[in-house]
Amino acid sequence: MSKLSIIVAMDENRLIGNNGKLPWYIPWDLKYFKEKTMFKNIVMGRNTYESIGNVLPNRTNIVLTSDLNFKSEGCIVVNNIEDVLQYIDKSDIESFIIGGSSLYEQFIPLVDEMYINLIQHTFKGDSYFPSYDENDWDICTEETVEVTGDKTVYKIKTKHLIKKIKTQR
Ligand SMILES: NC(=O)c1ccc[n+]([C@@H]2O[C@H](COP(=O)([O-])OP(=O)(O)OC[C@H]3O[C@@H](n4cnc5c(N)ncnc54)[C@H](OP(=O)(O)O)[C@@H]3O)[C@@H](O)[C@H]2O)c1
Repeated sequence: MSKLSIIVAMDENRLIGNNGKLPWYIPWDLKYFKEKTMFKNIVMGRNTYESIGNVLPNRTNIVLTSDLNFKSEGCIVVNNIEDVLQYIDKSDIESFIIGGSSLYEQFIPLVDEMYINLIQHTFKGDSYFPSYDENDWDICTEETVEVTGDKTVYKIKTKHLIKKIKTQR
C-alpha cells in the first residue's frame, strides 16, 4: 500500500482559507508544496480545485465531488472516499490530501503522515484545519524557517508528523 499524507499550511489558529482562497501569499510555502507533491497523486475537494482554477501540472489531480456530472479535463473525478482509497491503493506513487477543510477533516483518520507548515502569525479567514490529537503523532522532523511573503517576514514551523499507530485503510 502506498503512502497517504496530508499537506497543509495553517496559521496559529489553524486557519487555512479565506473566501475560497489562501489568506496569505508566501512563495516559500508554494515552493515547498510544489516540491513535495511533484509527480505524486494529489487529492482535493471540489472547492479547492475551483479555487486553484486549473489542473496542477506533473501530478495526478484527483477531485472529490458529490456531483455525478462533474467533469474537468486532466482530472480524475471521484464521488466518494472509498473510490479515492481504491485509486491510491492501486497506485504505487505517494498520495497527498491537499485540502480543503472538509477533506482534511475526513482524511485525518486515514492518512499515515502529515506535512504541516505552521505560520507563526494570525490572519483573517473562514476555513480551518480540524483539531487533532498531537499525542497520536510522532514528530519526524521539525524546523523553523524565516521567509518573506506579503512584504512581511514570517516564521514558519515546518513539521513532518508520522502517525503512531499505523492506519488500516
Ligand atoms: N492552507 C492550505 O494549505 C489550504 C489547502 C487547500 C485548501 N485551502 C482552503 O480551504 C478552503 C476550501 O475548503 P472547503 O472545506 O470549503 O472545501 P473543499 O474541502 O476543498 O471541498 C469541499 C467539497 O468537496 C466535495 N466533497 C467533500 N467530501 C466529499 C465526499 N466524502 N464525497 C463527495 N464529495 C465530497 C464536495 O463537493 P460538491 O459540493 O461538489 O459535492 C464539497 O462541497 C479554501 O479557502 C482553500 O483556499 C487551504
